[in-house]
Amino acid sequence: MKHNRSIWLVISMLVLASMLLSACGPSATPTATAALKVGVILPTKNEPRWIQDETRFKDAFTQAGYDVQILFSDGDSAKEKANVESLISQGVKVIIFTPQDGTAAAAAAQEARDAGVKVISYDRLIRDTAAVDYYVTFDSVAVGEAQGQYLVDKATGTGNPLYLYAGAATDNNAFLFFEGAWNVLQPKIADGTFVIKNSSEAVGLQDKATLTRDEMSQIIGQVTTDWKFDVAKNLAEANLTAAPAADKGDVFILAPNDGTARAIADSFAADGDVTSYVVTGQDAEEPSVQYIIDGKQSMTVLKDVRTLVSDAIAAAVAYLEGNTPEQTATYNNGAIDVPAKPSVVVTVDQSNVQAAVIDSGYWPAADFTGLDTLGAPTEAPTEPPVAAECPEGVYDFGPVTGGPAGGFLEQAVAGAFAGTTVTVDGTQVEPDDQKMKCGWKAFEEATGITVNYIGNKEFEARLSIAVDAGQAPDIADFPQPGVLARYAEQGKIVDVNSFMPADYLSATYNQAWLDMATMAGPSGPISAGVWNRGFMKSLVWYAKDDFDASGYTVPQTWDELVALSDQIVADGGTPWCVGIESQAATGWVATDWVEDIMLRTTSLENYDKWVAGTLPFASPEVKNAFETIAAIWFKEGNVFGGRDQITTTFFADSPAGLFTDPPNCFLHRQASFITGNFPADAEYKVDYDFFYLPPIDDAYGRPALGAADIYAAFNDRPEVKALMEYLSLPMSVSGFMNTSGALALQNGAVPEMYANAVDGDIGAALAAATSFRFDASDLMPGEVGAGSFWKGATDWASGAADLDTVLQEIDASWPK
Ligand code: BGC
Repeated sequence: MKHNRSIWLVISMLVLASMLLSACGPSATPTATAALKVGVILPTKNEPRWIQDETRFKDAFTQAGYDVQILFSDGDSAKEKANVESLISQGVKVIIFTPQDGTAAAAAAQEARDAGVKVISYDRLIRDTAAVDYYVTFDSVAVGEAQGQYLVDKATGTGNPLYLYAGAATDNNAFLFFEGAWNVLQPKIADGTFVIKNSSEAVGLQDKATLTRDEMSQIIGQVTTDWKFDVAKNLAEANLTAAPAADKGDVFILAPNDGTARAIADSFAADGDVTSYVVTGQDAEEPSVQYIIDGKQSMTVLKDVRTLVSDAIAAAVAYLEGNTPEQTATYNNGAIDVPAKPSVVVTVDQSNVQAAVIDSGYWPAADFTGLDTLGAPTEAPTEPPVAAECPEGVYDFGPVTGGPAGGFLEQAVAGAFAGTTVTVDGTQVEPDDQKMKCGWKAFEEATGITVNYIGNKEFEARLSIAVDAGQAPDIADFPQPGVLARYAEQGKIVDVNSFMPADYLSATYNQAWLDMATMAGPSGPISAGVWNRGFMKSLVWYAKDDFDASGYTVPQTWDELVALSDQIVADGGTPWCVGIESQAATGWVATDWVEDIMLRTTSLENYDKWVAGTLPFASPEVKNAFETIAAIWFKEGNVFGGRDQITTTFFADSPAGLFTDPPNCFLHRQASFITGNFPADAEYKVDYDFFYLPPIDDAYGRPALGAADIYAAFNDRPEVKALMEYLSLPMSVSGFMNTSGALALQNGAVPEMYANAVDGDIGAALAAATSFRFDASDLMPGEVGAGSFWKGATDWASGAADLDTVLQEIDASWPK
């Protein structure tokens, strides 16, 4: 990847050079008379970050044989404006511009705009003006999240003292960094893991998950370092002087960047009451890399400035050629949405500094001392091994064996790839990420391969940025196959068929799963990933004891289910409990019913068309699904509380009727997770049991509705393939099977492997399904799937709107 990027850089530099030199003929030698087309303005040399940028710009321009003007503003907006004017007077066509003060720079940007010069905001956003053409940046919210996450990962127990520091209030980035850190830290402040020690403003706002810009300003005003070492040092010392010894001990420090981190770390290290500290940073400045090697700074966030420089140059070239630079996002600067291209960032600490900073060519090994000692840390690692938090002994999967004969997993277990690292990204965050990692523990122990899980809630957006930047994770865990399909189509995904033989795959997975993993690649279909974990929705829970006592039997067909309902009514009981209230998401229970019926009454092809928006809601197929449900829900005596209660009963309360004596209802259709809402003392196979929601038309087999995860590889290194093979073993899902609520999708998963018998039996029911489809509303565009479909189904259920109107309205809401 790196290789490609540098080739690309050379090519773009050559293009740029030819543009820049066009005024002075074909000679590649720069001359003093060459018209200057691009200028760069950086804020200050006092913050080492910008010296990195200067060097990287110079490297890039020198490589192209041209001397660009790079001006520094010495931290002074007046000087910055003079710099802009100087470049304009020299005839530049594009200015790559990092403002000292985002808002103060608006006037200078406007001057450039008036002179017909394109303004590329570089790393920092110029605010409150329409005179910004483009923004190249790192994902700054992700920087803050990486810092916050690092502190969270290192903290155990509760009451950990937390000291917060921020960047300069004049820098828009300071807000984005703080926002990202707050996203991650706030829940951990709310649950008592951390206690803020140095900001009364932050304490006052600590219950708020999201802060406004004004609220952040209040906090930043109190904890700003202004990006200056001495301000940071003085503030840290003042905080330490004010804090009693009880607020010290093992402390956690959010420091916004490397320069301030070193100043703050030195102050904390010098305080006798501080036993240990974890401190964040950013920029991978050389002195901080040395601090990390020496154990004096805990982490930094590597923002590969080479990427930003090449993106800025590509944008400048686009403008010079009369084109528009590539846009992958927009950032609002207070006046307009500025087209932007954010890049990914990487967390670096002792565990990966060698790989991320040295081996990647970012800094030369010769600039550091002590790199050789990193492999053998003298102190115990601060991060507890994953094993410490994994429940033991629920089911003994034994040693890691399996995968294709002679394949990569076998080689890995023989030690062939020990010492390597595989990165995985996905949507799982606490606490599920822990379960996920527990499932990988055996792999790590057996192979010596480290699995580095990134994971965050903005997975999809982040992944797309990372892939664009050529920095895809090795493997990604997709909860929605449609998202994976896009990358498969672009040729970014390693074909599983290229290393896992067809006979192994068909022995491992039900054909329905293999079919769903088959996706279009650029030159024909590929097997895009391996299925790992799933959930099943097509279940009917029933009041087992009363059901048996009444002599009822589990229905095998839809007709039998309807007959059973009628029988219960004839016997004086109520068959169903239905509740679809779920606050802002009210209606989802109804849409799940519609999806289950669609799968039982029409082809998978039609179901997929419906999801894609090409089979309308007003079609006979969808209308029939609603009517099939109406025949149960709206029939007198069929639903506990009557039709009126359906939309007002909270979904999680609705199964309660199964457990009253006598039961308020006998049947309740809901996904596997609903057991979590059953009374704590309810016993499986005694008080409750479940059956598969029966088929309606034999032509459509025994379909299952649910959700599942598919893992796909972006890189084909052997250790990556070894992990992909491991993910095809039920053992890799063990962290979830140990607790509850999720199923292993591989054929080898048997009920005994699950901690709860009910999960094992649901797993068996899922394995018996002949087809599987994802929850349709989750796949539809948000306006429909989490909007008009929920609402329409609710209005229909309550009787507020008639079915035809509802279906037409949902169709009309489909985004054009
Ligand atoms: C940059 C950081 C830098 C800080 C101080 C921010 O705008 O994004 O990389 O550490 O300014 O110079």
